[in-house]
Amino acid sequence: MLSSHTFSNIGLLSLYLVVFVSLQFCSSSTFEEYPLESCTMNLTLRNYRLILSWELKNKSVPPVHYTLWSTIMSRPEDPKALENCTNIMESSCDVTDEWMDRTENYIPLIVIYRGDSVLSLCEGFVTATNTIIEPPEFEVIGFTDNINVTVKFPPVIPKIFGESMWQVLGYRSLAIKAQAGQNTLLHKLKMKNIAGNITHVFQNLLPNTNYCVSVYFEAENMKDSIKSPFKCTLLQPDQESGMVRF
Ligand SMILES: *[C@@H]1O[C@H](CO)[C@@H](O)[C@H](O)[C@H]1NC(C)=O
Ligand SMILES: *[C@@H]1O[C@H](CO)[C@@H](O)[C@H](O)[C@H]1NC(C)=O
Ligand SMILES: *[C@@H]1O[C@H](CO)[C@@H](O)[C@H](O)[C@H]1NC(C)=O
Ligand SMILES: *[C@@H]1O[C@H](CO)[C@@H](O)[C@H](O)[C@H]1NC(C)=O
Ligand SMILES: *[C@@H]1O[C@H](CO)[C@@H](O)[C@H](O)[C@H]1NC(C)=O
Repeated sequence: MLSSHTFSNIGLLSLYLVVFVSLQFCSSSTFEEYPLESCTMNLTLRNYRLILSWELKNKSVPPVHYTLWSTIMSRPEDPKALENCTNIMESSCDVTDEWMDRTENYIPLIVIYRGDSVLSLCEGFVTATNTIIEPPEFEVIGFTDNINVTVKFPPVIPKIFGESMWQVLGYRSLAIKAQAGQNTLLHKLKMKNIAGNITHVFQNLLPNTNYCVSVYFEAENMKDSIKSPFKCTLLQPDQESGMVRF
């Protein structure tokens, strides 16, 4: 029902609370008829969108579609089906515009349809602090002795968890790292809601050298930082032929 990531953070007590609260909601709705299925859930921040994804343990009969309902923990409220997450075929949905309140804990209820009349339910629990932060998209262009790194951000940033999203999530900076062998160059930008693409140029690099670049959001708790895969470029003396695009 919970990802191990979430589980370790909220502990068993809250788990009981979730189950208790969920059952209370269920008893007042049609959800009580649905058998519970074992599943895991993640909340991911990807390109400034909040994506809820889930995975069912039992894969023997693949679902035809899903509908994501949700309710909140702080007060009794009937679950509502999320408009854009109704009858969807993929096991994930964008909840950016639905789950805005950073002080709230959301209880996702996923109704599973398998093409017969028997519906089942996967339920979970997500909090802002357990959000998985994916690294941003970026491009690397190598010249004779410099590298141009463009990190891509959407032109308009949605208001996720209010104005202070990065504080809520516990992230301090955006890191752009270039390395060649033992040489590491690190450029850090203090985290704020960056809109639009940003470019950083690493200068005075060694020609004829292969540089690899990784970009990531740096968490206060470093082990939570998810680093992008490396993108590499070989700096060649001749500018024309040395240009490598990704
Ligand atoms: C949740 O995240 C973990 C770690 O990133 C990953 O291994 C797992 O497959 C994800 N599960 C879902 C349902 O997205
Ligand atoms: C998985 O689902 C199938 C079909 O609903 C069921 O027959 C089977 O017992 C389930 N397996 C487990 C391990 O729950
Ligand atoms: C649903 O999706 C449409 C199209 O992507 C978007 O314009 C709209 O804001 C979404 N609604 C909600 C409530 O997320
Ligand atoms: C780096 O790339 C950006 C976008 O492609 C471009 O606008 C900029 O002029 C480039 N800077 C250098 C020094 O090449
Ligand atoms: C950001 O960069 C990408 C690819 O380099 C480009 O397609 C996009 O238009 C750029 N966005 C802005 C706002 O410049």
